[in-house]
This record gives sequence, C-alpha cells and structure tokens, in this order.
Amino acid sequence: MPIAHCPLPLKLPRPNEIFPVESKPTLIFKLVFCFGGRLIKPSCSLPDAKSSPAVDSSVLQIQGGHPLQGHVKISGAKNSALVIMAGALLCSGDCRIRNVPSLADVKRMGQVLSALGVQLQQHGDILDINASEIRTSKAPYELVTQLRASFFAIGAILARLGVAHMPLPGGCAIGARPVDLHVRGLQAMGAEVQIEHGICHAYVPGKSGRLKGAKIYLDIASVGATENLMMAATLAEGETIIENAAREPEVVDLANFCIAMGAKIKGAGTSTLIIDGVPKLHSTDYTIIPDRIEAGTFLVAGAITRSEFSLSPVVPDHLVPIIAKLRDIGVSIIEDSPNCLRIQRAEILKAADIETLPYPGFPTDMQAPFMSLLSIAEGDSLINESVFENRLRHASELNRLGADIRVKGNTAFVKGVPLLSGAPVLATDLRAAAALVLAGLAAQGKTTIQGLRHLDRGYDQLDKKLQQLGAKILRVEPQTPVDKDFVPNSTDAEQSIST
Ligand code: UD1
Repeated sequence: MPIAHCPLPLKLPRPNEIFPVESKPTLIFKLVFCFGGRLIKPSCSLPDAKSSPAVDSSVLQIQGGHPLQGHVKISGAKNSALVIMAGALLCSGDCRIRNVPSLADVKRMGQVLSALGVQLQQHGDILDINASEIRTSKAPYELVTQLRASFFAIGAILARLGVAHMPLPGGCAIGARPVDLHVRGLQAMGAEVQIEHGICHAYVPGKSGRLKGAKIYLDIASVGATENLMMAATLAEGETIIENAAREPEVVDLANFCIAMGAKIKGAGTSTLIIDGVPKLHSTDYTIIPDRIEAGTFLVAGAITRSEFSLSPVVPDHLVPIIAKLRDIGVSIIEDSPNCLRIQRAEILKAADIETLPYPGFPTDMQAPFMSLLSIAEGDSLINESVFENRLRHASELNRLGADIRVKGNTAFVKGVPLLSGAPVLATDLRAAAALVLAGLAAQGKTTIQGLRHLDRGYDQLDKKLQQLGAKILRVEPQTPVDKDFVPNSTDAEQSIST
C-alpha cells in the first residue's frame, strides 16, 4: 500500500526530537507526537545511540548451565534496516518501513538522517521517513565515524543532490574496512570524488546533476559497495551493470525496497545486477526481512545449552549455511512451518571446520558464535576467517572461560573441551559480544560480560529474549550493586536473575 494512504501529520516534529543527536544520560525517552491522525506516546527503553557511560559500564551476569525452552520472536534484520533507511533518501515522498529492530545502530542511522534534515517518526517497529527535503549534503563526522553503514548513504545523497560530503568511516575492531570500491564505483558513474582531511567529497559535474549509468566490476563482492552503488544507480541516467555484486539477502531486501519505490533493478540475489535509472522514486510501505544472524545466534544458543525451543519468523533459505553447519556438528533442526524452526536437544556436539565467505557461504557474522559452540564440541575444529582480517579477538576471551583455542593469522584452532567455566570477560565487537553471551549460557557458574555497547548495537534485547526462554541472565546497571546477590548455585541468586 503506498504510504500516501497513511498521511503524515501536517506538522512533523523536528527531526532531532525523534533521534536526538545529543547523548542523554537516561535510558528512557518519551515523546508525544501525532501519528496518522492519532496521538501516540512512544517510549523507547534502548540506550541512547551515542553510547552513554551507563551503557558502557553495565554488565551482563549469566549463570550458565540452564536449558532454554519456549519460543523466541526474531526481529527485523539490522543490516537491511540500516541500508533501507539510507535508501529512503532516494525518495522525495514518504516511506514507511516496518519490522525495524530496536537497536543502537538504527538510532544512530536515524540521527545521521536527521542531521541531513530528513524527517523521521518512530512508532514501535514502524519507522516513517520523509526525505522530501534534504537540507544539507554534509553528514556529521561524530555520527558517521561511529557507524560504518552511514557511509553507505553517500550514493543516495549524491543521486538526489548531485553532491555529497561524507566523513570516512575509518577502521574498526574487526579490520581496516576501506571504502575504495564505493569510491571507484561512484567515479565510474561520473562523479568527481576527492578525499581531503578525512572527508569524502563527491559531486556530479554537468547541468543535470545526474550520475551516468556505468559498467562496474567489484574486485570483492562487498555488501556495502553493492548497496551504495545500487542506490546511486537507481536515479542515474541510463543502465548500470554491477558485476561480482554481493548476493546477501539484505542486498536483495534493499533491491526489493527500491523496486517498491519504482526503481528498475534486475538480478538481485545473483552476482550481476542490472539497474535502469529512473528520474524519480515514489513513496512506499515496506516490511524488512527477519534477521538471519539473530536467528542463527539463537540456534547456536539452543545447541550450546542442549535445549529445545522454536523461533520465528525466519526465512529458512537465508539460514542454509548456518543450518548445514549445525547439522554437521550434530544438531537437529526441523521446520515447524514455513517460517518457524525448532531446534532439538543435541546429545553429542562434534567438531567441524568453518571458512567464512560471502553469501551463500558461511557468514562472517556467525563465526564468533560458532567458535563458542565448537569450543565444547568433541574433537578439533579449524576456523578460517577470510572476510575480515582481524575478527578473532574473542578467542582469547573464550579461553578465559576455559576454551582451548590457538590463533595464527586468520585461523583459529579449536580443541574441544568438555566444559567451560564462568569468568569475567570483555566484548570487543558486536558478534564477539554475542559469542561471549552464548559461552556464558553454557559455562558452569557465573560469567560477567563487559562492553555491552557492542551488543546493543546489533541485537534487539538479546538478554530479555534469552530471559524469556529461561536463561539466567541479568543486566546490571552501574547504580545496581554488582554481584551482591549473584552467588553461583544460590537459589536467591537465581531468583534475582530470572526476574
Ligand atoms: C556488511 C555488514 C557486516 C558483514 C559484512 C560481510 C552491514 C551494515 N554490515 O559490512 O555485518 O559482516 O557485510 O558480510 O551491512 N572491502 C574493501 N573495499 C571496500 C569495501 C569492502 O576492501 O570498498 C573489503 C572489506 O574490508 C572486507 C570485505 O571487503 O574485507 C567485505 O566487506 P563488505 O562486504 O564491504 O562488508 P560491509 O558492507 O562493510
């Protein structure tokens, strides 16, 4: 249904009322605004996107060894939500995006859009974006450097305005993560691009201000470069062909969103994308796909705790490499219905080798969670991280929990141990944080995890969802006396965790 049928209020709140750029000390903000003719009172209990000292000093305490049961609801895909928010910049009307996960990264992307002058309204998991007016082509340094995906908006801004100034996202904990493929692709489409003082300045010469269709070959099937260039090409003059395009489901989701706005894109999900540029895109109402990495993380939670529970909604086709590897390890997963999976209690966990690859290969985002699982599997496993150059830092933290993992270059040698034992650990990046949570669920005794800002970037209330499945997991805020009631094997302690 085009969003034109859901008129926005005449007077929208100012953008940064919804996504305040300034950090707030409180974990709860409440706003009252008019939405679709009704007054609603949204409230959000997520930490502010600019990670506050409170979030940084919060810890998760996990009492391991408890089986999980019941059902868990999987949220919308983080990597779709972020790039689809950027894609809404292509449209000069209203876009309604549904199934948006509640994440610090999503808030941060909202702040980037707000800073560009775009209007946003959030109502539960629905996000309304109106980019009819983009007031500036300059994205703010403080925000872009905190969120790599915000750089993916440069193609859309350039396509709309003919000019864009985007700070380079910089490296991060998992590797250097350059943007050369993004830049070369935009240049191939006629943009003049200069990088000065850490800012990528791009403009389209000529009267029309429109990019030109081009043939682009990506040296690496980069997800972000494919998405950025695909967005830029939707409004370019003529045909763009992207060879060696990324095939990830989130790339397909973005293509479907753009198609819903009137873009002409063929080949999404294959390594050749053909985009026929159009002068304008129109409003749409779009629902993003379930998060396959969140689903995979819960499947590993089931395997590592030897539990039986179900999860939905999922797209089983998106989980093929993850389910295949779990089956190799000895875990049985059945399809209860087309969008619902059930993991069954595993008797024996067996070693397996993993190599991360672009989709449909095994996802790099699942490498850390699987390392936790393989650390208690029988036998020796070999994990090769071939997508990012520095994504094995969780190995040493898992060793604190009693795992036996040696790292050489991009390869981890995992010798399965019968048991992990709880300890204090530190999350170094998003998926490392998830891996430590999973290991903590399996470990004997208490595990305390620091560095939760990483977890909150990309998991929609992972601790709460695990609690609902029966995990003994508790987020301890700085003002709460840490640890007082949290004595391993104490009944009182377990009660305080399960509430
Ligand atoms: C996206 C995902 C991330 C996932 C990754 C790989 C988002 C917001 N993030 O990140 O969760 O782990 O895909 O599936 O969608 N590269 C270059 N030059 C470039 C671009 C990339 O050399 O211009 C390299 C990277 O350094 C990396 C590899 O290509 O080694 C793959 O990275 P890429 O697919 O671009 O990852 P992202 O899009 O950043």
